[in-house]
Amino acid sequence: MENKTTIKKSSFTGSLGFVLAAAGSAVGLGNIWRFPYLAAQNGGGLFILVYIILAFTFGFALLTTDIAIGRKTGKSAIEAYGEISKKWKFLGWLSFIVPAIILTYYSVVGGWITKYMVSYIISDSSTLARDNYFTDFITSPISPIIFMLIFLALTALIVYLGVEKGIEKFSKFIMPGLLILIIAIAIFAVTRSYTDENGVTRTGLQGMAIYFIPNFKGVTVSKFFQIVLDATCQLFYSLSVAMGIMITYGSYVKKDCNLSKSVFRIELFDTGVAILAGLMVVPTVYVFTGLDGMNSGAGLMFVSLPKIFNSMGIIGKYVGIVFFIMVIFAALTSSVSIMETLVASCMDWFKTSRKKTALIVFAIFAVLAVVICMGYNVLYFEAVLPTTAEGGTAQLLDVMDYISNYLLMPIIAILTCVLIGWIVKPKYIIEEMELGGVKFKKKALYSIIVKFVAPVLLTILLAKAIGLF
Ligand code: PFF
Repeated sequence: MENKTTIKKSSFTGSLGFVLAAAGSAVGLGNIWRFPYLAAQNGGGLFILVYIILAFTFGFALLTTDIAIGRKTGKSAIEAYGEISKKWKFLGWLSFIVPAIILTYYSVVGGWITKYMVSYIISDSSTLARDNYFTDFITSPISPIIFMLIFLALTALIVYLGVEKGIEKFSKFIMPGLLILIIAIAIFAVTRSYTDENGVTRTGLQGMAIYFIPNFKGVTVSKFFQIVLDATCQLFYSLSVAMGIMITYGSYVKKDCNLSKSVFRIELFDTGVAILAGLMVVPTVYVFTGLDGMNSGAGLMFVSLPKIFNSMGIIGKYVGIVFFIMVIFAALTSSVSIMETLVASCMDWFKTSRKKTALIVFAIFAVLAVVICMGYNVLYFEAVLPTTAEGGTAQLLDVMDYISNYLLMPIIAILTCVLIGWIVKPKYIIEEMELGGVKFKKKALYSIIVKFVAPVLLTILLAKAIGLF
């Protein structure tokens, strides 16, 4: 416990440290892997527009709520909800389940990234650009498990050592580096063009237009709600909200830090990286495979980026190496935040040491993640969930993603809004935001969202997520 407290205090000495650490948790595979494929599945432009509007209304309200609850109570999620109201302690428990589910498959995708980095080192870029390279890899029996274990072990090692501070220092270089690289690759991607075997030429600029310009053609009410649903759940996932993580991080923040500013910066950074990552992936998919390639779901980034790297010629190999190293770090800062939450909570419950807890958590999740890996071979099935894109199917990994992101997160978010909006009232949060005479400019907007807009819209979306319409 002593150890944990020291780490907590030394973590966020100022608001920059806090913003970086929170951004480290927020910016990860959600931005670079998940956002682009959802944008592609939902036809680009309209999804982006909806996402940006939601980010600065909904995202802002939920991130503010989580961080302010954390700082006000000074406790991690489970205890924090209990402190607000004894009857609502269950919400803390519920929010513990989400990171637990996410970690089972986050480590699998982290393993894919690790595999790609290693492959770029030992082979050349044309090998990875081969059709079916990705499918052959994830369906093979051993390799995905080994790479998953490497990624998970790295995560566990960092948590085991408790060196959040080291990771933070690292984030200072990695995050800006990643951003610059993504921008450079995106520029390269939109300047590509390709002529397929039918003689049809597609350009990156056309792809960029598809990505940015909203297209309302063929958008039915149901399709529109699907887009809003995907965007909302992606937003929560990407910001790491509605799962206790930002509450815990908020509890480490000093009272003199301006929370409004921090929330805005975290959001700006997180949304910026996501949109740029999409700009790197979506036009590329369009150039090389046309509109048909857009629905390929979880594998999209692993299929499209190798093609773009390969078209760079000899430097493609090195761009591939550097890119995947950076993504590993972005993914690690996120997976560490997930595992840290699980380990910290277990330490409090079972009164066990950090090291022992980290080892046990590692062992449990290693087994669970092996099962997820097997979802692509021994346990392969093709399910159609209410949220599956047209023509697509869901495997075990997608099912876990569905449970955590489309079911649990909206439920937690609705309940949090009811608790804050109606039971303790928004002033509970507003007071915390205005601590030390800081002006909370968006407080009227905040109250309206938490009390009315969010609970109503989220309930409609939940109905959509379970397939009611
Ligand atoms: N926000 C992270 C990302 O976008 O990759 C993922 C994540 C981190 C999800 C922490 C959940 C979490 F608790």
